[in-house]
Amino acid sequence: MIAKCLRVNEAGHLEISGCDTVKLAEQYGTPLYVMSEDLIRENCRRYVTSFEKNYSGKGKPIYASKAFSCKEIYRIVRSEGMDVEVVSGGELYTALQAGVPASHIHFQGNNKSLGELTFAIENGVGDIVVDNLSELHKVEKIASEHNVVVEVSLRIKPGIDAHTHEFIRTGQIDSKFGLDLESGEAMEALRQAKEMSHLVVKGLHCHIGSQILEKTPFVHTAEVMLHFFDQVRKELGIVFTFLNLGGGFGIHYTEQDHAVPYEEYMEAVSAAVHKTCEELQMDLPYIYIEPGRSVVGEAGITLYTVGTIKEIPGIRNYVAIDGGMFDNPRYALYHSDYTCLLANRAGEPADYVATIAGKCCESGDLIQEHTAIQHPQEGDILAVLSTGAYNYSMASNYNRNLKPACIMVSQGTSRIVIKGETYEDLVRNDI
Ligand code: LLP
Repeated sequence: MIAKCLRVNEAGHLEISGCDTVKLAEQYGTPLYVMSEDLIRENCRRYVTSFEKNYSGKGKPIYASKAFSCKEIYRIVRSEGMDVEVVSGGELYTALQAGVPASHIHFQGNNKSLGELTFAIENGVGDIVVDNLSELHKVEKIASEHNVVVEVSLRIKPGIDAHTHEFIRTGQIDSKFGLDLESGEAMEALRQAKEMSHLVVKGLHCHIGSQILEKTPFVHTAEVMLHFFDQVRKELGIVFTFLNLGGGFGIHYTEQDHAVPYEEYMEAVSAAVHKTCEELQMDLPYIYIEPGRSVVGEAGITLYTVGTIKEIPGIRNYVAIDGGMFDNPRYALYHSDYTCLLANRAGEPADYVATIAGKCCESGDLIQEHTAIQHPQEGDILAVLSTGAYNYSMASNYNRNLKPACIMVSQGTSRIVIKGETYEDLVRNDI
């Protein structure tokens, strides 16, 4: 099984963290998001421990909550000692509601509104990651109106082209995120920031993309960023406190994905950080990384009930489920790979080639095409693996479908962390 929280039990059913998924589907209904709390906590610990080992604790992982945001996940990652990254007023609000101290929140985004910036400043968010010059001026203005000095960092485009899907690549020059190094835009922003009296730039941030399955782009990014630290020190006399190297570590969606164990990224990047700082005769900054997908992705699965099966001879076999692009738009958007299996027949051979179709009025509403599963019948439970990241968080109400419930499982127990929506929820804001 691609995730260590999964196994096939004695009944031939898929089990997650000691819970039989067929029983979960019976108890909570489908579609259902199921997250292994055990694996999430283990992932957090692996990152935290890596910082102790590689940076003598002078660094910390930040959970990028765009991957999966709800109150309970903020409580979990905080209890494991991680900071939290948010990218909207909504994520910020949820994190604050969950009790995350504002000083441990990092606020990202390429076009934060005045309202969002004000909300962040009024609540004392610890690190506003400024994306562009216009935002720098907005932060200065709001901070001066509130008579406070805010700590910010700047998002830099390091010019690294990571090999991943073009929609989730962000480090190269042609990106809507961040300030450019090559054109001098980033240096200019720092020059202007130095003159501002209501903000102080504590560090720099970068993020080169997502689902990256190699170490080298991360190593190069760290080197580029530290050379820029040196340049800024020499040209402007600014010495930063921290460097945030972003997230993007790939996970297993199928057996074919060769995800690098986190410890290996951490070791490779830390070696480059130490070596570069030594060469540049620079003190090591405090290091942050910002993983999202790799904290929650493999820990989540989605359970569906199989409905209509349409076998079109010589063409394909459509196996329709009671979910679709409204709970998981990633195949429709990126043609993402997934592993699918019948949870109630997990012990049987996967010798049936299926195209898993959703229930939305849209031909492209598919979860996977031509994928091998066990021979299906109406009423079977289909499990899609590695759906813990960017599934619930990207869900919609397309066709007025209801966003499913999300449960956490741990050592054979289960509990609801997000209730499933109801029809009343759908019309709540309708006039
Ligand atoms: N930090 C920043 C500034 C980011 O933009 C992102 C992801 C992360 C951290 C976390 O990256 P991760 O460790 O999760 O790869 N919806 C797409 C992924 C978009 C990623 C956006 N930014 C998907 O479903 O694949």
